[in-house]
Amino acid sequence: MPMPSPTESPILRHDALTLIALPNSIHIGRTYATAVLRGWGHLDDDFLADAQLVVSELLTNAVDALGFTDPRVVITARAVVRIYLSELSDCVLIEVWDPHPRIPHPRGMPPPDALRGRGLEIVRHLTRDSGYSVLPDGAHAGGKIVFATLPFPQEEPPRAP
Ligand SMILES: Nc1ncnc2c1ncn2[C@@H]1O[C@H](COP(=O)(O)OP(=O)(O)OP(=O)(O)O)[C@@H](O)[C@H]1O
Ligand SMILES: [Mg+2]
Repeated sequence: MPMPSPTESPILRHDALTLIALPNSIHIGRTYATAVLRGWGHLDDDFLADAQLVVSELLTNAVDALGFTDPRVVITARAVVRIYLSELSDCVLIEVWDPHPRIPHPRGMPPPDALRGRGLEIVRHLTRDSGYSVLPDGAHAGGKIVFATLPFPQEEPPRAP
């Protein structure tokens, strides 16, 4: 995955949500992203479905990395993930932050009988760019941001800055 560059384009609108890293948060994150994008006037059903899928895959990976799909794991103050949505002139930038030090490992499409390993590949197919950025400990909370940019549908006119 390439390192991110999408924020070189000016951000027109931005929204963010912090979620406790629990499986239910994936549904909440999907609902939140749809509501924000609709609120920004992006109403195309296919676009919204793709955005939901991208958010789902990235949030699932973040929650998974923190281990909170395992009921034995104790929730701590660091057990949060964050979703950032930024509207650029011709696409939405979807970013998901989590504090886990492990980086994403896209491995290409797995064999048909594999149960897992498709998430990042699906994201790559749906989006224009995708990648991640490791954050230093200290000023930030460490961890990394995994991002993807999803172009607006062709017929939707680009927004003026
Ligand atoms: N946010 C993340 N934090 C830590 N590791 C990650 C993160 N995202 C992805 N990874 C690593 O990259 C691998 C590939 O992710 P990917 O989403 O493609 O597959 P998967 O999560 O294993 O399976 P699937 O998404 O099909 O259920 C993961 O198995 C995990 O090791
Ligand atoms: Mg996954």
